[in-house]
Amino acid sequence: MGLAVLVLSRMVARFVAIETHTRIAAAVHTVLSTVAVTLAIASLPLGVLMAISWLLKRSGRRSSPSAVTIGRRQVFEAGAGMTLFGATGAMLGWGIVRGRHEFQLTEVTVAVPGLPRGLEGYVIAHISDIHAGILVDESQLDAGLALVRRARPDLIAVTGDLVDDDVRFAPLVARKLSALDPRDGIVGCLGNHDYYAGARSVERVMKNAGIHLLVDEGRVVRGADGGGFAVLGVDDLASRWHGRKGPQLDRAMSTVPADLPRVLLSHQPVTVDRWAGRVALQLSGHTHGGQINPGSVLNPIFEYVAGSYRVGGTTLYVSRGFGTVGPPARVGAAPEVTRIVLRGA
Ligand SMILES: [Fe+2]
Repeated sequence: MGLAVLVLSRMVARFVAIETHTRIAAAVHTVLSTVAVTLAIASLPLGVLMAISWLLKRSGRRSSPSAVTIGRRQVFEAGAGMTLFGATGAMLGWGIVRGRHEFQLTEVTVAVPGLPRGLEGYVIAHISDIHAGILVDESQLDAGLALVRRARPDLIAVTGDLVDDDVRFAPLVARKLSALDPRDGIVGCLGNHDYYAGARSVERVMKNAGIHLLVDEGRVVRGADGGGFAVLGVDDLASRWHGRKGPQLDRAMSTVPADLPRVLLSHQPVTVDRWAGRVALQLSGHTHGGQINPGSVLNPIFEYVAGSYRVGGTTLYVSRGFGTVGPPARVGAAPEVTRIVLRGA
């Protein structure tokens, strides 16, 4: 009952925050999200604790329990429960106040077979999952984009979720990105949250700002420099529930010369399993590096969480991204800008 009231209150706060754009509504939404996630994270170890307690009680009944041992057990249960909630709440609090703001600039060198000699050392600034909205505001964007400037990129690639779920934040993203003005422009692909916000509207806003969202299509970069390379973008998997066909790599490849090295933008990293070996490099996001991932506990559970992977001849790089979903917190998954340096192979 209490949980249902909490979830309902959170939904109302989110609606009010989106409609009114007021800080107080955003703060209420943040608090309610944090309490809900604290309960969710703490519930698993609490469940284990309750199961152990139940087993102890059962075995205790068989061996004539005393009032003293039951009293001690109850004190232990209450103490452990409070400690778990306190530790989870404190961790999330740190993730809200500090963790989500501590942007890191990561540098990764990727071998691209057939890269023209003139493009040795070419730099792509890879960003992802901006989630601009009530909780990822202009100051958060500015903090991340300052690192993009420091990367001194030739090209900027944005791998989806430019907005969280409200297209009214798309012009802010477009304005901030286009102001960076790298030599070879800005390319990107759509993410699932862009569909929640309205993909066609996001595409239109970005196009008007000169940002090329590649939906199953490609562009040739530095074609004059010995042939250049192709950057391809595929539609998001979520597009299938919004009247589109899902990612179409063949269609994207048909729009560029077949003999060029290929760099692919695809929001969800799992798509690499479909076309491993057909592109030299796939840039993805979507996972937020787990977002609440202390000690990288999620990494052994999920196949692609963050960083570099080698999949059947393709290098996959999964960005931890900029923004957040759910609680505006990051723990063990710092927001990231990636400086991708291309080398011939
Ligand atoms: Fe995302």
